[in-house]
Amino acid sequence: MQIKRIGLLTSGGDCPGMNAAIRTVVRYAIHNKLEVVGIFRGYAGLINEELKELNHRSVSNIINRGGTILKTARCPELLTEEGQIRAVQAIKKNNIDALVIIGGNGTHRGAWELFNKWKIPLVCIASTIDNDLNGTDRTLGYDTAVNTALEAIDKIRDTATSMERIFVVEVMGRDCGLLALHVGLASGAEEILIPEKKLDFSKICHDIVQGNLKGKISWIIVVAEGAGSAKEIGTKIEEMTDLEVRTVVLGHVQRGGAPTANDRILAAKLGTAAVDLILKSEFGKSVGVKGENLNITDIKSAMEKKEMDLDSLYRLVRILT
Ligand code: F6P
Repeated sequence: MQIKRIGLLTSGGDCPGMNAAIRTVVRYAIHNKLEVVGIFRGYAGLINEELKELNHRSVSNIINRGGTILKTARCPELLTEEGQIRAVQAIKKNNIDALVIIGGNGTHRGAWELFNKWKIPLVCIASTIDNDLNGTDRTLGYDTAVNTALEAIDKIRDTATSMERIFVVEVMGRDCGLLALHVGLASGAEEILIPEKKLDFSKICHDIVQGNLKGKISWIIVVAEGAGSAKEIGTKIEEMTDLEVRTVVLGHVQRGGAPTANDRILAAKLGTAAVDLILKSEFGKSVGVKGENLNITDIKSAMEKKEMDLDSLYRLVRILT
């Protein structure tokens, strides 16, 4: 079947760079004589047929903007048979030949259902601040989120050193510790707690007390949300060390803001790769990168546990602390 018209949607947690990817897909698809229809509010908007034709100018002045002009949502309904039937009917009714889907883990799960069970031709662009998709070194939005958290922690360090305090800073990442590990390494955090490594509270508290005795009074402890809450961890450290602790939850701040140059460039690479796959009728794929090169993964394996070398990063943190 010749593809003439594609649907484009963003789904799940938004991330910086989604707009840059939308811009790329729209303009590169039009360049290749495809029509593009924007689907608003992710899979929910697909089910409810919230559609609008997109042209070259619809995506002007968005390359630098965080969030997504197509809006986004989480849509548990797509994991039900009824939701899938409605989505498939909407695709057929609106003459959409293939979909480009921009999002993270949950979004890939929905895409897999539509592709595997209902044979909908589609391609995903790996996009999430969590960087938890397999088959890509970096997901779209990750670099910006790391830099946003880093900027915040640098500021926290100013007050931590001035007031000689211990800070526990919680970062996002769902159940993946990569964001915390990279932010912790870049910010020179004294301790990083991630879900992939078992917490040894008594060791951490022992180190803090020993450091304190030697005159080291300020600490930055970065905790991945999947490893526990800053509040609980802070309280425990206070109880075990008898020292005062402050906690900060960076939360959704990490999801916003203008994308970094790296994320904009990644958006250009991944967006064109997604359209190229559609033009070649290679469906059911997720586009990402390995090093500087594109890497194409089956959606199913993109959802598997990410292959990553956390140990060597963690060792480095230990050596440099
Ligand atoms: O997947 C992106 C993410 O920001 C995670 O890091 C976080 O756990 C989750 O989404 C938060 O989801 P919500 O915005 O729905 O609260």
